[in-house]
Amino acid sequence: MIINQETIVKDTDPKIRERSLPVSLPLSAQDAALMQDLYTYVKESIDPQIAEEKNLRPAVGISAIQVGINKQMCAIVCSDFDKDGNEINYEYCLVNPKIISSSIQQAYLANGEGCLSVENDHQGYVYRSARVKVKAFDTLTNKEITIRAKGFLAIVLQHEIDHFSGTLYYDHISKNDPFIKIDDAIEI
Ligand code: NI
Repeated sequence: MIINQETIVKDTDPKIRERSLPVSLPLSAQDAALMQDLYTYVKESIDPQIAEEKNLRPAVGISAIQVGINKQMCAIVCSDFDKDGNEINYEYCLVNPKIISSSIQQAYLANGEGCLSVENDHQGYVYRSARVKVKAFDTLTNKEITIRAKGFLAIVLQHEIDHFSGTLYYDHISKNDPFIKIDDAIEI
């Protein structure tokens, strides 16, 4: 499957609002190939030379619905820093990820969020849970995993899982006051 800026489903297409369905495991050959394509997209998109050649917009995650397939699958490649300032890299190919608990405390990206399916800029803060626990099957390790995420990874996971219910990041931005401050929310 060719995934690039041309072929990705945009928010102008009602398809992006479709609900994604759980996927049966082990993955069929077709689903495994799809997951591989999603993962390859994200990996290649952060390489400036490949991105240029293949018309890829840089991303830290992509969900299957963004290539028009309503299955609960997503690939994530991102990094964050631990409390000592060391970089930690995260790579996941998640099937049926579910948020099993989330903090009441909120967090948001100071620069706002972006999405491969959204071409227009939507300014404002997207408040999400600061910490989430996610259960999923990860096809990179071929294991059922539980991710205890905070910081940037927690935001990325919630953004991708939102795609399964057809929710886009700007749905969370306050219409009246896009940069409203919430007490106690962590700025990332
Ligand atoms: Ni997105």
